[in-house]
Amino acid sequence: MNVLWFSLLAILCKFASSADWCYQSQVSCSNHSCIGPDDWASVAAECGNAKQSPINIVTNKTVFDSHLTPVQFTGYQETITTLIKNNGHTVQVNLPDTATISGAKLESSYKAQQLHLHWGKNGGPGSEHTIDGEKYPMELHIVHIKEKYNSVDEAIVDPSGVAVLGFFYEESQTANKKYDGIINSLKNITHPGTNATLADVSLDMLILPHNELERYFRYQGSLTTPGCSEAVVWTIFEKAIPLSKEQLSAFSNLMFSDGTAMVNTYRPIQLRSGRQVSYSRSYVFCVSTALLVSSVLTSFYVLTV
Ligand SMILES: *[C@@H]1O[C@H](CO)[C@@H](O)[C@H](O)[C@H]1NC(C)=O
Ligand SMILES: *[C@@H]1O[C@H](CO)[C@@H](O)[C@H](O)[C@H]1NC(C)=O
Ligand SMILES: *[C@@H]1O[C@H](CO)[C@@H](O)[C@H](O)[C@H]1NC(C)=O
Ligand SMILES: *[C@@H]1O[C@H](CO)[C@@H](O)[C@H](O)[C@H]1NC(C)=O
Ligand SMILES: [Zn+2]
Repeated sequence: MNVLWFSLLAILCKFASSADWCYQSQVSCSNHSCIGPDDWASVAAECGNAKQSPINIVTNKTVFDSHLTPVQFTGYQETITTLIKNNGHTVQVNLPDTATISGAKLESSYKAQQLHLHWGKNGGPGSEHTIDGEKYPMELHIVHIKEKYNSVDEAIVDPSGVAVLGFFYEESQTANKKYDGIINSLKNITHPGTNATLADVSLDMLILPHNELERYFRYQGSLTTPGCSEAVVWTIFEKAIPLSKEQLSAFSNLMFSDGTAMVNTYRPIQLRSGRQVSYSRSYVFCVSTALLVSSVLTSFYVLTV
């Protein structure tokens, strides 16, 4: 009896799809009102393709690329007043296109459009990308497009039209004061469609000092929400931004459009499908340098004794 009932619900879930896409945390078959990640290809066919994001980065399979020089940031230090919004799937901040990135083996200069976040539940695992299987509590995406385009929609026709910078967060003992503006504004945008003014913030306040961003991973992938366009040059930084447990948990007070807590806002890991992940730093180099230094020290010790 239960099996029959379950099958009926499953069928309803599959076909009752005038609905919008949603994260797994919102999929509830008793209320077949949205399309979870397993079925996103029915919303946008590209979601079923082979170069999707996010992926798990297996560090010992990454390939050192000496052309992955530090990202050059322009306009990231500018203090801006902008809009922060609950768009029903995440919290998004509009960015001025005077903030740009270049260098780092990017084809051209890319200008900022918006940033948004992916998180877990009350500070639990919530990043989209994982490193050797580890899921961080949150992930920041700063979305840029090539200078010549006017919008993300225009840029996605180009396989390298979009450049997203991904930053992980890690739990710290003390609060990160630079995030006070964003965190305080969350209580004013708990409902989807609502917005607030975010004043006196700069992109540099939200990321790490540039000299701590030299280690990063690079691969070719997609947007992590439908349409899943395979137009993204991903740059994922190794060093995580610190936020306290309370700060991370504050995001769980936001709400989805069904009135439930906006939690676990990440797409599941996608197959790497033979794609190469490059790394700006060489493991081999570091290990061999360490060995060299230790052997020099040992010989020195042997000679002097
Ligand atoms: C890479 O790491 C995995 C998991 O940590 C390990 O099982 C594997 O042996 C490693 N491979 C190499 C080539 O080091
Ligand atoms: C939140 O909204 C209240 C009332 O509209 C306003 O006074 C306050 O400045 C807002 N706070 C933030 C951080 O946006
Ligand atoms: C922000 O919210 C106000 C209502 O509070 C609305 O009139 C306005 O259109 C919203 N702006 C954006 C860009 O969503
Ligand atoms: C089902 O979804 C609708 C619209 O999203 C919402 O209004 C309703 O409260 C939900 N019902 C349950 C039982 O979650
Ligand atoms: Zn994202």
